[in-house]
Amino acid sequence: MNGNLKLAIQKKGRLTDKSVELLKLCGLDFENYSERLFVTARNFPLDILFLRDDDIPEYVQDGVADVGIVGENVIYEKQTDTPVLEKLGFGRCSLLIAHPEGKELKTLSDINGKTIATTYPVILNDFLVKNNINAKVIELSGSVEIAPSLGVANLICDIVSTGNTLMLNKLKKSFKVFDSQAVLISAKDVSGNKKKNEILDSLLKRIRSVLNARRSKYLMMNIPKEALPRISEIIPSLKSPTVLPLADENSLAVHAVIPADRFWEIVDDLKSAGASGILLLPIENMIL
Ligand code: PRP
Ligand code: ZN
Repeated sequence: MNGNLKLAIQKKGRLTDKSVELLKLCGLDFENYSERLFVTARNFPLDILFLRDDDIPEYVQDGVADVGIVGENVIYEKQTDTPVLEKLGFGRCSLLIAHPEGKELKTLSDINGKTIATTYPVILNDFLVKNNINAKVIELSGSVEIAPSLGVANLICDIVSTGNTLMLNKLKKSFKVFDSQAVLISAKDVSGNKKKNEILDSLLKRIRSVLNARRSKYLMMNIPKEALPRISEIIPSLKSPTVLPLADENSLAVHAVIPADRFWEIVDDLKSAGASGILLLPIENMIL
């Protein structure tokens, strides 16, 4: 026991690269050897454990790891007592019911009497009960997508991200059961350990700063002086924009932090209000 905070991430899969990227953006320096069971960060009191994603909620609940990065789908399925500290905005996917090509389902009630193969029996059963559907759930431990062609089930219920797996197996989406993204979860008793709690606070601050920065961009432009009121109306800034004088007395430079996804909605309005030399820059960290 070295007193380090122990963070579990997926060993190999959809969330692995993005989890490692997030930690590196948090300024953590570590070898990314996912063949090893764990690595220790060189510049922060953190051990990173590489585990199967399906095992992460239970390991965190049992205290093998203090915190973990895992999909909401997995925590809901495992029904563990592991509070979500932060939604991480990556690893977005949906748990869907899919059918073989040519065997379309028109309404939810068409599922009645069918067999559905899945690795998510808990979530699927909840969905079926809520929608008053009587279907047989077949629990598999993997490779669900081949179940219909093997004659094991009529339908599948599985995670879909890009849709490639469905396409390769000649399956089509029919109904959405659950939306998911990666989240940071913790054990309930981390807060009881003062030192680990401090490390976790500091890690969370860094993670939140990276997430804020990702959601925002730095907008710079020049505008005619008289356009300032109009431009201020258009910019959805967190605080008021920074306004700087230019050598040309009739112009101003305006800088503002904006939500990244709003840029294309406002750029035409900015131009018609007279803005020129519009620059949009990434922000690396943002401490609020
Ligand atoms: C899911 C699912 C498919 C794949 C779908 O697995 O079981 O294999 O992702 O992704 P696509 O739509 O981009 O093709 P997951 O990543 O959850 O891995 P696991 O089954 O190993 O836990
Ligand atoms: Zn998994």
